[in-house]
Amino acid sequence: MKLSPIALEPHQVLYEQVAERLQTLIMEGTLKAGDRLPSVRKLRQQLSISTSTVLEAYRLLEDRGLITARPQSGYYVKPTALDLLPEPSPTVPPSQAHEIDITLAFQLMITLQDSSMVQLGAALPAMEHLPLSQLNRLMGKALRDNPTLMHVYGNPVGCEELRDELAKRMINASCSIPPDQLVVTNGAVEAIYLCLQAVTQPGDTVAVESPTYFTMLEALKNLHLKVLTLPTHPREGISLPHLETALQQEDIKAVLLVSNFSNPVGCCMQDDRKKQLIELLNQYEVPLIEDDVYGELYFGRARPKAIKAFDTENRVLYCSSLSKTLSPGLRLGWCAGGRYHAAVTKMKAVVNLGTAIAPQMTAAAFLKNGGFDRHLRQLRRSYQQQMGQMQQAIADYFPAETRVTRPTGGHVLWVEMPKGFSAIALYEAAIAQQISIAPGIIFSASGRCYQNCFRLNTAIPWSATLNMAMQTLGYLAKKQLAEQLLSSEQPASFDRSP
Ligand SMILES: Cc1ncc(COP(=O)(O)O)c(C=O)c1O
Repeated sequence: MKLSPIALEPHQVLYEQVAERLQTLIMEGTLKAGDRLPSVRKLRQQLSISTSTVLEAYRLLEDRGLITARPQSGYYVKPTALDLLPEPSPTVPPSQAHEIDITLAFQLMITLQDSSMVQLGAALPAMEHLPLSQLNRLMGKALRDNPTLMHVYGNPVGCEELRDELAKRMINASCSIPPDQLVVTNGAVEAIYLCLQAVTQPGDTVAVESPTYFTMLEALKNLHLKVLTLPTHPREGISLPHLETALQQEDIKAVLLVSNFSNPVGCCMQDDRKKQLIELLNQYEVPLIEDDVYGELYFGRARPKAIKAFDTENRVLYCSSLSKTLSPGLRLGWCAGGRYHAAVTKMKAVVNLGTAIAPQMTAAAFLKNGGFDRHLRQLRRSYQQQMGQMQQAIADYFPAETRVTRPTGGHVLWVEMPKGFSAIALYEAAIAQQISIAPGIIFSASGRCYQNCFRLNTAIPWSATLNMAMQTLGYLAKKQLAEQLLSSEQPASFDRSP
């Protein structure tokens, strides 16, 4: 294995950068459990760094529990939590288009917002991860500098200052979109809602990945749309052969999915599959609504491309937001609607005339001069570490039958228990202990699938309280499985049919 020389990052010491390069190779599976790491001499030569830097990097990886030193032999990759836990299999949702039945979601969302709980249920960054004082300062300055501007109706497509910055950020996702082709929205959810309105009529069918982020299901339901749920692989995303069959057999008016580190399974489509998806959609002339709110939260070396980057016929309506990276409360998202830009703009003007100006000016200032990239680097490091800690806790405390996803970005884990397990019962038992989880059923369009699954948020710094919460959840899950076994005397199995 040969590593290319390291380009020094000004804000991080060299040995940490070396450790992170190696950690990424371990997390991505390039370096597997039992593999020998390059010798100190070899790595020193390859990267043109000192022996002590290599040793410091290896020591850091040992501290993180990722590698181990064998006397006279070298450094080896240790088995991680992921080697102990299988990952869930691809999903098998209902194969017919149907209306959405998600009566439970809203009821459960109320506890997902209760801050007195250990919040493993909501996919939200802990406040410690957000640059709050800097944002507050910038908002104060924006208000002082523009005492009237903040109180007028703005341009429905949003402030130019912010659209300029967002257009620059989209280059990182390999998309070259002029600022005048962007619409600023109240978060990604509004962007998705406007896009759905721009390309569908009530009664139409939209193809979605399954499990599906429940707010998307709410939006689809509200717009009287039917869904066709597609089998989804926990790492690779929606099944393209199933999508092709659906496009042949059904009158699909749009496809809606999360392209990078989806919610709830954390899958990230590879570039070749993104390209194939575009070819398929071009062939059937179907628009794609792409939600990329997690794209910046990658653990690997580079940001994954947006599907929009492969969009040769301008059929992708790209949606994203600053909720996962900067502040969910600013309620700032955006949309690059491609050939549907005019329709999205019109919808935006009809629905709420425009997005509030003060948050836009605040975010524009932060993106321009606030060290957004530095903030993101720190965020990615924390999220990668926290996800590893949560996976380790699952391996340590949860039943042996547990399966868990292995996302390479974002901040959610999808946990699957054997069939017959009730995630709702676990949810209720956990709520009594002041812990919230997101039961799988709220991600099911039919309201019947994923009853044995649940989602955990990992955007929370590791602490004794979190450790205790994971221990409690593991205990409650084991208790339920034991009771189930006693009452049925049937061995648990992994049938994933709804
Ligand atoms: C996939 C996905 N899209 C959109 C959102 C919401 O985004 P926003 O707060 O920007 O409306 C979330 C929040 O959890 C999400 O997970």
